[in-house]
Amino acid sequence: MIRVGILGATGTVGQRFLQLLERHPDFVVSAVAASDRSEEKPYVEACQWRLPGDFPESVRALRVRPCEPPLDCDVVFSSLPYPVITNSSSFRMDADVPLVIPEVNPEHLALIDLQRQRTKGGGYIVTNPNCSAVMVALALAPLHRRFGVTSVVVTTMQALSGAGYPGVPSLDATDNVIPYIAEEEAKIERETKKLLGTYADGAVRTADVAVSAQCHRVNVTDGHLGAFRVKLERRATLAELRDAWATFRGLPQQLELPSAPTHPIVVRDEPDRPQPRLDRDAGNGMSVSVGRVAPDTVLDWRFVALSHNTIRGAAGAAILNAELLLAQGRLLQPPRAVERAPARG
Ligand SMILES: NC(=O)c1ccc[n+]([C@@H]2O[C@H](COP(=O)([O-])OP(=O)(O)OC[C@H]3O[C@@H](n4cnc5c(N)ncnc54)[C@H](OP(=O)(O)O)[C@@H]3O)[C@@H](O)[C@H]2O)c1
Repeated sequence: MIRVGILGATGTVGQRFLQLLERHPDFVVSAVAASDRSEEKPYVEACQWRLPGDFPESVRALRVRPCEPPLDCDVVFSSLPYPVITNSSSFRMDADVPLVIPEVNPEHLALIDLQRQRTKGGGYIVTNPNCSAVMVALALAPLHRRFGVTSVVVTTMQALSGAGYPGVPSLDATDNVIPYIAEEEAKIERETKKLLGTYADGAVRTADVAVSAQCHRVNVTDGHLGAFRVKLERRATLAELRDAWATFRGLPQQLELPSAPTHPIVVRDEPDRPQPRLDRDAGNGMSVSVGRVAPDTVLDWRFVALSHNTIRGAAGAAILNAELLLAQGRLLQPPRAVERAPARG
């Protein structure tokens, strides 16, 4: 078993990590870290458990540590802006940092080799995307591969849990829609282009796709919904679009990674689906649901997509990245011999 540490372990995403790792075949949580508010408390006291189901027994007594070395683990999952396998937006757009959805752009992980040259064989950073960008890129990837997406307009309706805890004040959230999420639109626009981009000769060339996003916070606990309009390079029929989504598979499915959903995209044919409450847990929260596919009167096609923001959009995304790195032998690469300059004198 690989022993993992969780930074930001008491938070919304941290709790998901612990829940998803409770009976994981490869990873066991051996260290939890958070702010000095929680430091040295047993995890059960430091954390106000807010997920359905029981408190994970295996971590109950772990003492919460400060987010600094040494931590009693081999690998760190971060829900904070520290380097490693991180949900944080801090490093996502750096030229030598892979921003990865394993079904969409696993080849971008080759950027790790550049980082390791820089750190002389030491650590590296792998990032997973913004929770809405995951949904956008996963929904678009099958269409981009088969028909070429030239432009997309997406309007998101995003869940309250996306703002962390305590998040949006109840008096703002109730009976309301807030048409503003700080920096979200720019993140979706730039991350989608990197995710759909191509890797060659040590660099990612961003995809030539025009992306326009408008984001709204809605009174839903979990599950981000997006209403899409897309323009395609090649003509497609509704049946071909449906087939592109339904048959879409990636490396995680080929390698049968533990958290890989059988169907990365689930196509719903009912006229009123997907819905957050009914569809966010598709594929254990790792599948994106797509529905309401129809010709559009302005661009070519319209559809609606839905994804679980703290699972496929955060903790589950990072775990799937780690599973892929492990399967590729990249997770615990031994440090390379550091070339030393000849001693002087
Ligand atoms: N929620 C989502 O759907 C989502 C999706 C994608 C990405 N993200 C990203 O994931 C990260 C965590 O989000 P969240 O929703 O889990 O937030 P959250 O519920 O507010 O939790 C924050 C966590 O960070 C710890 N923390 C805060 N300040 C710290 C400090 N100065 N030093 C050490 N630890 C500190 C907190 O510990 P204490 O309990 O001790 O204060 C807590 O464990 C953010 O970068 C966010 O942008 C979130």
